[in-house]
Amino acid sequence: MKQIFVKDLKKDMEIIDFFMVKSVSVRTGSTGKPYLDVTLGDNTGEINGKKWDVGASDHLLKEKDIVKIIAVVNEFNSQLQLKIQRIRKAVPESNPDDIMDMGNFVKAAPEDPDDMYGYIKNACEEIKDPDYRKLTLKVLEENREKLMYYPAASKNHHAELGGLLYHTKRMLMNGERVCEVYTNLDRDLVTAGVVLHDMQKIFEIDADTDGMASGYSFEGQMLGHIIMGVKYVEELAAELDIPYEKKIMIEHMVLSHHYEPEYGSPKKPLFPEAEVLHYLDILDARMYDMEEAVRNTEPGGFSDRIWTLDNRRIYNPKKQKE
Ligand SMILES: [Fe+2]
Ligand SMILES: [Fe+2]
Repeated sequence: MKQIFVKDLKKDMEIIDFFMVKSVSVRTGSTGKPYLDVTLGDNTGEINGKKWDVGASDHLLKEKDIVKIIAVVNEFNSQLQLKIQRIRKAVPESNPDDIMDMGNFVKAAPEDPDDMYGYIKNACEEIKDPDYRKLTLKVLEENREKLMYYPAASKNHHAELGGLLYHTKRMLMNGERVCEVYTNLDRDLVTAGVVLHDMQKIFEIDADTDGMASGYSFEGQMLGHIIMGVKYVEELAAELDIPYEKKIMIEHMVLSHHYEPEYGSPKKPLFPEAEVLHYLDILDARMYDMEEAVRNTEPGGFSDRIWTLDNRRIYNPKKQKE
């Protein structure tokens, strides 16, 4: 049995347990001595660790290894950190199956992929406009298999199993509320834009069935999910006979959802639903990153600088005494 999960670690705990190596390198300290810098994780989060005397076997550690460690939890700059005494690769032959079960170690969206997919499909079925309805349903159906595990990013927001479904679902939930407030909005268009906006991340990012991204595909590197998304809509529109104006509207939503040219959008949104799509996107991404930052920070402390949040350090308030 795994004894303790990253989210339950507290300062001064002494632990002996299994984790997955998320990244590892041997570095040189200010005194010229090598040390092991390793990020360990499980399905609840990640934590950085240091081992100050590097042994020969430490050089062999690599990403995705399951390791058994003996360590003490320290605090450094308001962040928990492991001081590792021993670390060794766990081998399936000498460890029980439940330890080697990847489900323990892979970060996953907090909801069941089938349920999230069902929610999104239902939203598409409720689209009144027959063109947007058939377009979104086709896209969902066509990408179903990969959607079940795909992350929405290689790092940061929604870099987890089922992350793209979770991101899409939460944007749809917010989108429904926004359309209740701003009744001028075409809800069908908002739904269609949300469902399509990041769909090509499935081909932009290379990921395995554990939802772990290994990098970008060739097309992802050269074109990115925005341009790939526009091409995808173009193809589907021809196949499904989507009228010209509707096709361009959807393409524009995909094209403009990052808002700024330096973030990959050559045009800013030119109608209200496209504007709303951008804010739904950014809201969900930032809430995810902030929630994560707070979770990894001791009460009363500030997080590390988070580059996706303009290098801000996020504050976790002190817990109120009951
Ligand atoms: Fe995007
Ligand atoms: Fe997005």
